[in-house]
Amino acid sequence: MKTLIASLATAAAIAMLTGSAMAESYPDRTITVIVPFSAGGPTDTVTRLVAEAMSKDLGQQVIVENVGGAGGTLGAARVADADPDGYTLLLHHIGMATSATLYRKLAYDTLNAFDYVGLVTDVPMTIVARKDFEPTDLKGLIDYVKANKDKVTLANAGIGAASHLCGMMFMNAIQTPFVTVPYKGTGPAMTDLVGGQVDLMCDQTTNTTKQILGGTIKAYAVTSPARLDVLPTVATAEEGGLPGFQVGIWHGIYAPKGTAPEKLDRLSKSLQKALKDENVVARFAELGTKPSPEADATPAALKAKLEGEIARWKPVIEAAGQYAD
Ligand code: MLT
Repeated sequence: MKTLIASLATAAAIAMLTGSAMAESYPDRTITVIVPFSAGGPTDTVTRLVAEAMSKDLGQQVIVENVGGAGGTLGAARVADADPDGYTLLLHHIGMATSATLYRKLAYDTLNAFDYVGLVTDVPMTIVARKDFEPTDLKGLIDYVKANKDKVTLANAGIGAASHLCGMMFMNAIQTPFVTVPYKGTGPAMTDLVGGQVDLMCDQTTNTTKQILGGTIKAYAVTSPARLDVLPTVATAEEGGLPGFQVGIWHGIYAPKGTAPEKLDRLSKSLQKALKDENVVARFAELGTKPSPEADATPAALKAKLEGEIARWKPVIEAAGQYAD
């Protein structure tokens, strides 16, 4: 018995030592963060800013790889299948929760395929149009879309993307379905909106603020509870006549299931530092968003958020009855 206790104690001591040695040497090479949408879009923009700041803290390069398609589910699947060694991560947004219900055949089990690093930011959406689109305000837009529903086009980043979710909410709110055009991300969709190939988009301020301020697209509303400092002339959707039309696009960092807790802890601490980095704070503000508070940049907070959001959106999506196979 004594021998058994002694060996268990030795095993526990070795495990603790291995854990702390691992925490000290990790990371010792480049970390890749998969963005499940195209380069140049809002998720990409947020990830690159955070990755740069985390690189400084971790002392290793944190690089971004874009794996777009199927509303973010292809990139998420890539990370679900990756080695849980702390060197492949995923930065995804609210679509992680909505796709769990929207996709009948998802290649991974959302709640069991990932470990958690922490929340990153919560970005407001904007309803925007090509710059020469006729309606001048949200009320005019609603009337125009109702009268022209067969010819108006709305860009999105595929089923499960934030732009898809916001578009569905808009169509629902005005009781008028209209034509959607899917892209691998709203980066390329923005190019087409600026070029006038598509009429409308509902997308994050992290992709639209610069274009709105530069006058290359037109803004009808923000989906935040109050107007944004960076876009003071853009009315909230509520002010514009859509009561309750509020949506924030939360983002989080995930790792494949089975990643060592010491590595998740190291990453989470690094994320917390990155979210206080001067450049991150300043650039986020210019893009109409804010870093998540430190208490939310933790594995527990992201896990709770994901679970809560899957439960929140499930009945909404089921009531809409629109699924992807
Ligand atoms: C979305 O619609 O979910 C995002 O805009 C995707 C992206 O980052 O391109």
